[in-house]
Amino acid sequence: MSGSSLPSGLALSLLLVSGSLLPGPGAAQNEPRIVNSEEIILRTEESPHPPITLQCNLTSSSHVLEYSYWTKNGVELTATRKNASNMEYRISKPRADDSGEYHCVYHFVSAPKANATIEVKAAPDITGHKRSENKNEGQDAMMYCKSVGYPYPEWVWHKKNGPPLDIVNTSGRFFIVSKENYTELSIMNLQITEDPGEYECNATNAIGTNSAVTILRVRSHLAPLWPFLGILAEIIILVVIIVVYEKRKRPDEVPDDDEPAGPMKTNSTNNHKDKNLRQRNTN
Ligand SMILES: *[C@@H]1O[C@H](CO)[C@@H](O)[C@H](O)[C@H]1NC(C)=O
Ligand SMILES: *[C@@H]1O[C@H](CO)[C@@H](O)[C@H](O)[C@H]1NC(C)=O
Ligand SMILES: *[C@@H]1O[C@H](CO)[C@@H](O)[C@H](O)[C@H]1NC(C)=O
Ligand SMILES: *[C@@H]1O[C@H](CO)[C@@H](O)[C@H](O)[C@H]1NC(C)=O
Ligand SMILES: *[C@@H]1O[C@H](CO)[C@@H](O)[C@H](O)[C@H]1NC(C)=O
Ligand SMILES: *[C@@H]1O[C@H](CO)[C@@H](O)[C@H](O)[C@H]1NC(C)=O
Repeated sequence: MSGSSLPSGLALSLLLVSGSLLPGPGAAQNEPRIVNSEEIILRTEESPHPPITLQCNLTSSSHVLEYSYWTKNGVELTATRKNASNMEYRISKPRADDSGEYHCVYHFVSAPKANATIEVKAAPDITGHKRSENKNEGQDAMMYCKSVGYPYPEWVWHKKNGPPLDIVNTSGRFFIVSKENYTELSIMNLQITEDPGEYECNATNAIGTNSAVTILRVRSHLAPLWPFLGILAEIIILVVIIVVYEKRKRPDEVPDDDEPAGPMKTNSTNNHKDKNLRQRNTN
């Protein structure tokens, strides 16, 4: 019973799929056709890199061209707008910074615009990061890295000579936000015992990899108080010395009642002890 309904359902869905795949009559001729040059890889070994040229040729279109221009990462490149079906964009000294997604875009008088994509790829190069971050314990630290290079890299943070950071995120104090060419590592409530060290951001794409290191220093809460504590300690030591000195001096100064003063001075400490004993006994 169900066997008879299944083939007909299958045939119907096949019909629908093939119907949507087949272009409508005349559509193939109307569609603009663009022939473009291949993707380019800027190898870091080639430095300086030889000039590169991106090309697009509009080979067939039944519409009148109005203008064409180049975009990089979706932004129109200034002074590239022309009324030309053969387009060229030349970069005489390409750097990693020039990598990205380029489009040649054709605008027609009365038809939707058309474009083709040319990728210029380069290994990530880290163009910005903090050399060091200095904070007090209990404060938050923020470190970042930003890159040029395309495709946008995968970002990973490591503590140098340690495991990848996300593994030690058991404390829940580590936050990483990465988007395209930028990554940010925040560490909340800094701990003086575990957090200081060298933190490395690592950017990797299909072409290559690069990394940069930030040194995190964490000072004790007491650090700003140290000069004050030093002075305080000096005062305390001074006071102690004075008090001790005064206490030791006193027996010599106070003349003993029951002993003749002067010649017996060498025995004075012993006598003093005796006196103390006698006093304690009387109590
Ligand atoms: C585009 O056309 C020019 C001139 O005809 C030709 O030299 C170039 O190779 C073409 N480019 C591509 C990508 O087909
Ligand atoms: C662009 O050039 C084509 C062919 O030369 C021409 O027909 C069209 O009018 C031009 N468009 C503009 C906006 O000048
Ligand atoms: C290129 O064409 C695609 C598909 O039509 C469109 O989504 C995209 O926005 C176009 N890009 C540019 C830079 O015009
Ligand atoms: C990084 O990406 C942002 C957004 O995609 C862009 O505005 C910026 O120019 C890029 N910076 C670099 C150095 O590529
Ligand atoms: C670390 O843990 C906190 C809390 O569990 C979480 O919100 C944060 O996204 C984690 N960070 C990373 C880098 O996984
Ligand atoms: C970045 O991390 C990847 C994967 O762990 C590693 O293969 C690569 O050597 C690292 N790159 C740098 C520059 O440290």
